[in-house]
Amino acid sequence: MSSNENPQLPRLVSDSQSEMTEIILPNDTNTLGNLLGGRLMHFIDLTGAMAAYRHSHTHVVTASMDHIDFIHPVHVGDLLILKSSVNRAFRTSLEVGVKAWVENTFTNTRLHVASAYLVFVAIDQNGRRMPVPEITPITADEQRRYADAMLRRQHREAEAARRKKASQETAALSNGTN
Ligand SMILES: CC(C)(COP(=O)(O)OP(=O)(O)OC[C@H]1O[C@@H](n2cnc3c(N)ncnc32)[C@H](O)[C@@H]1OP(=O)(O)O)[C@@H](O)C(=O)NCCC(=O)NCCS
Repeated sequence: MSSNENPQLPRLVSDSQSEMTEIILPNDTNTLGNLLGGRLMHFIDLTGAMAAYRHSHTHVVTASMDHIDFIHPVHVGDLLILKSSVNRAFRTSLEVGVKAWVENTFTNTRLHVASAYLVFVAIDQNGRRMPVPEITPITADEQRRYADAMLRRQHREAEAARRKKASQETAALSNGTN
């Protein structure tokens, strides 16, 4: 039985690979005609969700989007190309990598605009968390992304614990002074 017929069998990275192309219109841009950062993040979120849907076969919500650098501007009239795939599946969450390029159709050039890692959590119709199928990385790149995804998860968990501790300490301090 293939992973398409049984959604709980391990799936391939290629099963989740997704691509979106957008032409940048004036509504997407700032007063200088450059793509807005928030609009780019929206496209990244959508392309990431496509890969997460294809892997999990259920609803997903975005739990986090990692640090993002805007490397190259995108102008009105440019084509924005985004590609995504699942790097690693955990228990109910999965990490998706998204990369975006800008293509100038007049000069036929393509430049890297931004990359991001997003974590999506699978949920059912009632909002209850759902287990996600495992993923089997095949190529050297897929195996590298799979290994790196675990390091990023550990980093996110450590950072969340640090923030929680800091906010508890701040709360304790302000309780003591009131
Ligand atoms: C994301 C959400 C479902 C997590 O719920 P929660 O009760 O905090 O869940 P838990 O702490 O039990 O974690 C569940 C999973 O999510 C992961 N997770 C939770 N918060 C996370 C975060 N900020 N970043 C990355 N992963 C996160 C956990 O690692 C865990 O993964 P695992 O099951 O694979 O081990 C919940 O915070 C939520 O609904 N957030 C709003 C989502 C949303 O509206 N997004 C924007 C619109 S789509």
